Amino acid sequence: MHGDGGRPAAPAGGTVAGATGDDIESRKREHIEIVLDRNVSAKGVTTGFEQYAFEHNALPELDLDEIDLSVEVFGHRLAAPFLISSMTGGTEAAREINLRLAEAAQELGLAMGVGSQRAALQSPAFEDSFQVRPVAPDILLFANLGAVQLNYGFGIDEARRAVDMIGADALFLHLNPLQEAVQKEGDRNWSGLLEKIETLVRALDVPVVAKEIGNGISAGVARKLEGAGVAAIDVAGAGGTSWSEVEAERHPDALARAVAHAFAGWGIPTSTALVETVEAVPALPVFASGGIRSGIDAAKALRLGAGLVGMAAPMLETGTRTAEAAAGQLRAAIRELRITMFCTGSRDLRALRKARLYQQGRECGR
Ligand SMILES: Cc1cc2nc3c(=O)[nH]c(=O)nc-3n(C[C@H](O)[C@H](O)[C@H](O)COP(=O)(O)O)c2cc1C
Repeated sequence: MHGDGGRPAAPAGGTVAGATGDDIESRKREHIEIVLDRNVSAKGVTTGFEQYAFEHNALPELDLDEIDLSVEVFGHRLAAPFLISSMTGGTEAAREINLRLAEAAQELGLAMGVGSQRAALQSPAFEDSFQVRPVAPDILLFANLGAVQLNYGFGIDEARRAVDMIGADALFLHLNPLQEAVQKEGDRNWSGLLEKIETLVRALDVPVVAKEIGNGISAGVARKLEGAGVAAIDVAGAGGTSWSEVEAERHPDALARAVAHAFAGWGIPTSTALVETVEAVPALPVFASGGIRSGIDAAKALRLGAGLVGMAAPMLETGTRTAEAAAGQLRAAIRELRITMFCTGSRDLRALRKARLYQQGRECGR
């Protein structure tokens, strides 16, 4: 995703029709710089997690250090239910960021996704910027492709190559219609995608997880995706990074910028998308991301039914520094989650899912 352009796929080893490897590389660099340097958070919409509060337990009867945060996802045991959400690849700086984040995920026993691998499928020179297995042999690792690419020349072979290229355990297929609609080079033809997603999901032998990128998944879309056979859904709702705001920053034209900015508050708040998706597809694992900014947000998402909680933008800055900085930031989120579990008397994630939670004073169902 993210600035890969609206052209048909070029043969492996070639360049993208109409865009050289250098074009792709500079777009990737722009995305990272914009997210790091500008305010591209959603505006006028929040995740909604601030409306929720746990009942405090003054007598937990637990040893804080013995609380069990571990969780199983797709047969992998994670030490805590955190995912470093899909971000980058395709430049030298992105390679280093991916390696630092992967090293942190390996150290802490967490999951990680790489960014869209489209550039590497078109130009093998980019492959190594996504390859993190040398530093993270054991993590639950997600490959990444844009679903709309299925309308622009990509199919089962490309998806298999994306997975094999990085030794991934699963594939994230991202849904980003708003970004593509407002992006300079966006891919605008989204007709007939569901059927192609279904064909892909049935053909691949790793789990395929559908994700948004910050505008959320509705109950209706969740049901369609379940019907197509996806293994899980990451709601990636509104309230965190806004990709229409990111694309606005890339437009040279003032009117196009205004059109993109008009959508700064667009999308389904993450907490709403999560609650509605969990209710709509109770048999599917649902991941929560989009504006998760602390272990307390994560605890609320887990309580509301998330199986895994993802953070993207907050990990980018530490990812540009050192693996230790990234690990430190994740350790803080894990500690916040652990303390939330302690102060709700929850010895493990099963117990957390039954903890008392209130939404604006009204108790939530358990
Ligand atoms: C720099 C950056 C690049 C991203 N690139 C991708 C991508 O290639 N594929 C994808 O599925 N999501 C991508 N995302 C979206 C994130 O995975 C996530 O869904 C979104 O940013 C919302 O989470 P946040 O509020 O924690 O940032 C990217 C996010 C950031 C910050």
